[in-house]
Amino acid sequence: MAISKYYLWTVGCQMNQADSEKLAAGFDRMGLRPTDRMERADIVVLNTCAVRQHAEDRAYSKLGRIRELKLQKPELKVAVMGCMVGLRTTELQRRFPQVDVFARPQQFEPIIELIDGPHEDLGGEFWPSTYAIPDGPTAFVPVVHGCNKFCTYCIVPYRRGREKSRPLDAIVREVAYLSANGVREVTLLGQTVEAYGHDLPDQPDISDLMRELSALERLYRIRFLTSYPKDMTHRILEGVASLPKVMECFSLPVQAGSDAVLSSMRRGYTRSEYLDKIAEVRALMPHAGITTDIIVGYPGETEADFEETCELLESLRFDKVHVAAYSPRPGTIAFRTMEDDVPAGVKAARLHRIEELEARISQEINNTYTGTQQEILVEGVRNEQPFGRTRTGKLVHLDAPARIGTRVDVTIEHAGPFSLRGHAEDTLTLA
Ligand code: SAH
Ligand code: SF4
Ligand code: F3S
Repeated sequence: MAISKYYLWTVGCQMNQADSEKLAAGFDRMGLRPTDRMERADIVVLNTCAVRQHAEDRAYSKLGRIRELKLQKPELKVAVMGCMVGLRTTELQRRFPQVDVFARPQQFEPIIELIDGPHEDLGGEFWPSTYAIPDGPTAFVPVVHGCNKFCTYCIVPYRRGREKSRPLDAIVREVAYLSANGVREVTLLGQTVEAYGHDLPDQPDISDLMRELSALERLYRIRFLTSYPKDMTHRILEGVASLPKVMECFSLPVQAGSDAVLSSMRRGYTRSEYLDKIAEVRALMPHAGITTDIIVGYPGETEADFEETCELLESLRFDKVHVAAYSPRPGTIAFRTMEDDVPAGVKAARLHRIEELEARISQEINNTYTGTQQEILVEGVRNEQPFGRTRTGKLVHLDAPARIGTRVDVTIEHAGPFSLRGHAEDTLTLA
C-alpha cells in the first residue's frame, strides 16, 4: 500500500513541538501530506510526553482509539515517539501490540524506514539537513538536547539523554534559512538552555550564539528557554541585556521555595541563591518578564515548606507561574527512594492556592502596562483578532487588522491576568 497521508499528534513541551515540525518536514520531503483526521491517515505518529501521569494518559487514550482503527484498517502504520519511549521497549511492545515502531526522542530514522524501508542516506543526516518548514513568523530552534541535572522527580534526562549542543554554525545556518523564509523571531530551546556550548570544542556560550544570530539582518527577535539558575552566568545575562534583538523575557523555574525541598529535589541551588539570581537579572533588566514553574506536593513537603513557596511568589512577583502537582515517575530517584506522601486533596488545594495567588499578582503586573506603548510582533490571527507579544513575552490582542510578521507599536488599553489588549498606533512592515 502506498503511504500518502500522515497524522501527527504532539503533546509536551516546545522541544517536542520542534521535533514534530522536523519530522513533518521530513515527511513533506518524502511526498507525504498531513491530515488532521486520524481515520484518513496511512501512518499515525504520536509524539508523546512523560513529564506527568496526565500527559501519558492522553497518549494511552489515543492508543485505545488506534487499536480500534487498526482492526478496521490492518495496513495502518503506527509509530510512537518522544519521551514515553525509553531505552527498553519490551514492556511498551507488550502493552501496545498495535504499535509498529517505538522511537526515542529525535530518533526519526525508524519512523522514516517504516514508510520507505531501509534508508541508506539517512545515517545521522536527517537532523542537520532537514529544517522544519516555517508556518509563521515565529519558530522554535533546539540548540542543546538532553539534560545532565537529574532533579529527583524528573524523567527528562532518562528519556532525552545527556546534554548535547548543536554546533554553532549549524544553528546559524538553520536560523538564516528560517529568517529567509519569513521567520522574524526564534526561540532557542534547551532543557537548561544556558548549558549550551560547554561540550563543543570552542566552548561558546549561549550569548555567543545570540551575538552571531543578531547579525542576521532579517531576524528581529531572539528568545530562549528554559533557564537554569546555576547555568545562567553573569556573562550570559550581560549578553542578553546588551543585545537589542534578544528579548528581556525569562523562563526560570524555581520549583519550590523551601531549602529542604530544593535540596531533596537536588536542584543545585538554595532559596537565597535563587533570589540573588533574580536580583541579578532585574539589576541588568529592570522590566524583564520572568515566569517560573512550581511543583506542589513533592514528597515530604510540609505546610511550612509550602508557605515558603507562597512567600517566595509573593515577594518575587513573577509574570506567570506554571504550577503542577507532583506526579511520581517510575525510574526517577524520587520514585525509587521517596514515598508520594502528600495526599491528593492537599496537592489539589496547594495547586489552587498558587493559581489564585498568581492570578492576582499577574493582574497587578499587567495593570502596570495599561497606557504604555509596546512593541509587538504580530504572530497570528485568532477570531479575526491579530495577536503578538511584547519584548517581555506578554500576549497582546490587537483591536485592528495588522499583517502577520509585522512589527506594530501598540498602546495597551486593557489588562487581564493572562493577556493584554491594545490599539495599534502605527504598522511598520519589516524588511
Ligand atoms: N528543564 C526545566 C523543566 C523541564 S520539565 C527545569 O529545569 O525546570 C517542565 C516542568 O514540569 C518542570 O519545571 C516541573 O515544574 C514540571 N515537572 C517535571 N517533573 C514533574 C513531576 N514528576 N511531577 C510534576 N511536575 C513535574
Ligand atoms: Fe528535569 Fe531538572 Fe533537567 Fe529540568 S533541569 S529537565 S527539571 S532534570
Ligand atoms: Fe514532556 Fe519530554 Fe518535554 S517529558 S515536557 S516532552 S522533554
